[in-house]
This record gives sequence, C-alpha cells and structure tokens, in this order.
Amino acid sequence: MVNVLFVCLGNICRSPMAEGAFQYLINERGLQDKIFCDSAGTSGFHAGELADPRMMETARAHGIELTHHSRKLVIEDFTSFQYIISMDGPNLDIILALQKKAVQAGLHGSPKVLMMRSFDPEAGEADEDVPDPYYGGLNGFEDVYQMLTRACENFMDFLENSELKSFKK
Ligand code: 4NP
Repeated sequence: MVNVLFVCLGNICRSPMAEGAFQYLINERGLQDKIFCDSAGTSGFHAGELADPRMMETARAHGIELTHHSRKLVIEDFTSFQYIISMDGPNLDIILALQKKAVQAGLHGSPKVLMMRSFDPEAGEADEDVPDPYYGGLNGFEDVYQMLTRACENFMDFLENSELKSFKK
C-alpha cells in the first residue's frame, strides 16, 4: 500500500477536503487495495470534529461526502505514511520540525513531505499555498475545492506513474 496523509492547520477545511477528493479518485480508478489516504492537522484545536459545515456543503455539491473526524498529526504518522502533503508553508515548517523529532526518536520510515500546490497545474510561482478558507466567504471554499481536485488528479497521476508502476514489477 502507498499511504498518503494530507495535512493543514485545523483538519476541518482543506485537508479533509483533499482526503475526500483523493478518496473519490481512488474509488474511481479502482485503487482501493493500492492506495490509502487520511488527513490530520498540525493543531488539535478541532480534534474529534467533523469538517466545517461550509466545506462539507461545498464537497456535497460536488458529490463528495466528508466523513473524517479531525485529529492532530502525531510522530507515529512519520512511520505509517510514505507521503505527507502539506496545504501551506507554515504547516510545512511544523511538519518538518516534527519529522526531525521522529528521526531523533529513532522512528523508522522517511515519508516524502511535499506541498499540495506543487501538484496544481494552475498554480503560479507565487501560489505555493492552498489558502485557508476558514475566515473567508463561501467562494473561498469553492476555490479550495477546485485547486484541491486539480492537485489531487495530478498527484494521483504522479503516483500511478511512479510508485504503482514499480509495484507491478
Ligand atoms: P484548515 O482551516 O486548516 O483548512 O482546517 C482552519 C480551521 C480552523 C482554524 C484555522 C484554520 N482555527 O483557527 O480554528
């Protein structure tokens, strides 16, 4: 299995949407026995909660039901996942700091830690982050949905052409 973890700050808006969009693609492409995905937040502010109702509503309008309950990123995630995908730069810094701790603690496994929008074909050079929609209007949630689905498709193509190809050998 290739295990993929999407990470944002609260794990109630961007990363559960990324997980839902990616799971949709896993199902569509029949890759349930090859790819597993999950999401987490660098904060535990909303631990246990379902996604923000505005994010759930936007996802539902596109045929995706978000069922994830928020959880905090933990050091053990660095042993369980091959890919950890950050929604933005500030969270990338937190993820990398925790990865350092995982290495210092002698935990094995070395996931590739990457930025979500590095897979968004429409992202310009300055568009490194998936913007946090939490304090904005409804348009922000639709914009986040659109960039996440673009990035998920591209990331999935990348996995199919790399990790999954080597599985078949
Ligand atoms: P997320 O959005 O990181 O995309 O889940 C946020 C959700 C909640 C908060 C910040 C960002 N908050 O400060 O509570």
